[in-house]
Amino acid sequence: MNNALTNAVVTTRSEALGADGSAATDPTDRLIYFKGAFVPACEAKVSVLSPTSQFGLNVFEGIRGYWSADALQLLLFRLPEHIERLFQSCKILGLKCPLGAEELEEKICKTITLNRYQEDVAIRATVFVDEEGSWSSSEPVQVFIAPMPRPRTNIAAIEGKSACISTWKRIDDRTLPPRVKCGANYINGRYAFLEAKRNGFEIPFLLDASGKVSESPGACIFLVRNGELVTPSISNSILESITRDTILRLALDLGIQVRERDVDRSEFYIADEAFVCGTAAEIGPITSVDRLPIGRGKVGPITTSLYEAYLNVVSNANAPYPEWRTPV
Ligand SMILES: Cc1ncc(COP(=O)(O)O)c(C=O)c1O
Repeated sequence: MNNALTNAVVTTRSEALGADGSAATDPTDRLIYFKGAFVPACEAKVSVLSPTSQFGLNVFEGIRGYWSADALQLLLFRLPEHIERLFQSCKILGLKCPLGAEELEEKICKTITLNRYQEDVAIRATVFVDEEGSWSSSEPVQVFIAPMPRPRTNIAAIEGKSACISTWKRIDDRTLPPRVKCGANYINGRYAFLEAKRNGFEIPFLLDASGKVSESPGACIFLVRNGELVTPSISNSILESITRDTILRLALDLGIQVRERDVDRSEFYIADEAFVCGTAAEIGPITSVDRLPIGRGKVGPITTSLYEAYLNVVSNANAPYPEWRTPV
C-alpha cells in the first residue's frame, strides 16, 4: 500500500499518483469516491450495523470503461443509461440519492481521472444506507464509486460454457423486483450458482415464476433459432439489461431479426446458438445446457459477429453510436 495516501482526502491528480506518476495498481491504493470525498479504498469504512452491511440495503451499477489506444481515452459505456437505472432502482427501493445525475456523472469521471487509468476498467457505483439502522431505514443515504482494472475478453480465445437450469426459481416482481439492481437480490443468484458448481456446471439459468427461462445470476440470455435472435422479455423477471438493449440494436444493424418473448426450457435445448450478455460478462457463449449440446456444441457464427460488433462499439472511439461512449 502507498502509505502517502493513508489518512488523506485527495483532491488533485498528483496527490493520487505513485511517486513515478503511474496509476495505482494495488487495489488498496486506488482512490474511490466515498461519502463526498476521494479517499484510498482501504480507508473507506461503513458500520457493521449499517443497513447496507446487515441487509444488503444498497443499489448499484457496474459500468465498464474501455481504453481506446487510438483516442488515448477511456470510453465509459452507456454511462447516462447506467445512472438512469441507478435512480430507478433508488425510486423503487425508497432511497433518495444525495447526488443528482450530473453530479454523479462528474464524480465517476473524476474518480477515473484521479487514478489515471490507461487500461480497461470496471466501475462500481453504489448508493447505500449508512450508519446504525435496520432494513426499514431510508437514511442516511451515501454513495461510493470504485473503479478497478478489468480487461476486456480476448475474442480470439473465447470458449463456450456449460450451463444448467437451476432448481431455484428467479425472484419476481411480487417478491423482490429483479429490475431493481439491489445487493440483496444477488442472493437468489448465489443459490443457483452454488448448486450449478456442485453439479459441475459453469453457469446456471433460472426459470421465472411461470416456468419460462429468465436469466442467469449476472447476465441476460439470447438464443438463436432459425437465424433469429430470441430473448426473454422484460416481464420474465430479468434485470433491464443495458447490454441486452445494446445487442438488440446491434443485431438489427446486422440485419438479424430479434424477438423479445417467452422462452421455454425445452426451446433452450434445441437452440442453434446461445449466449449470455451483461456489462461484466460482455458476451459469453453457452455451448451446452443440462449436458445437451447447443447446436454443434461450438461458438456459433451469429454469436461471433455480435461479439465483434459489441467490442467495436464499446472500445472504438470512431464506431457508430458515439452517444453510447463517454470519453474520459
Ligand atoms: C441479474 C443480472 N441480469 C442482467 C445483467 C446485465 O445487465 P447489464 O447489461 O446492464 O450489465 C446483470 C448485470 O449487471 C445482472 O446482474
